[in-house]
Amino acid sequence: MRINQYLAHAGVASRRKSEELIQSGKVTVNQKPLTDLAYQVKTGDTVEVSGVAVYSEEPVYYLFHKPRGVISSVSDEKNRETVRDYLPEVKERIYPVGRLDWDTSGLLILTNDGDFTNRMTHPKHEIDKVYVAKVDGLATKEKLRPFSQGLRLEGRKLSPAHYSILKTDKTKNNSVVELTIHEGQNHQVKKMFAALGLPVKKLSRVRYGNLTLEGLPSGRYRRLSKKEISQLLTLAK
Ligand code: URA
Repeated sequence: MRINQYLAHAGVASRRKSEELIQSGKVTVNQKPLTDLAYQVKTGDTVEVSGVAVYSEEPVYYLFHKPRGVISSVSDEKNRETVRDYLPEVKERIYPVGRLDWDTSGLLILTNDGDFTNRMTHPKHEIDKVYVAKVDGLATKEKLRPFSQGLRLEGRKLSPAHYSILKTDKTKNNSVVELTIHEGQNHQVKKMFAALGLPVKKLSRVRYGNLTLEGLPSGRYRRLSKKEISQLLTLAK
């Protein structure tokens, strides 16, 4: 694997920034400063950045159906259940691509490829993320119109979001809405609905780019195929 790709996979920096690190003399291979930007890392090489060893494994990619009540991180200081607990057979150092809240269920990608993660989570890439939200209150087209115009949230204008009202229940005074967004700010969907006076009671992510949870029960995972990975990278322009 080429050195800049190795550093990017290890999550050190993007490929371009990794080249800058090499040019600034901070990268050593087997204790010797590296100058060759095209260096191919071999098994057994010790790669260090500013004296700290950097490991890069074969990249792996998983699709996970996260249940509610599970934390989107690989460890928790309070010993609560994390997504990592659901993939015990996976030996690589994987972590989630972005986050889902503790009480949000649905589609989560896990990988050890830092470069891939950066591309998926970079705001300019605009990968569709589709959520289904159960909200308190009756959703109407008029009420949700600000979503399609680009809602202003905490001083920032969001890109226009598509929505579709799946169900409204007048007796229970609640609604189910499907919402497609492109950004991935913390608690974004909950904040968007709250801004319109429709607090989210239940949230699930049902699609991410080309991926859905079809055939994958809650709590289960599967490897992504090469085709799915390359489609995601194409979507991330
Ligand atoms: N938006 C939220 O509010 N929560 C999530 O978990 C994901 C998106």
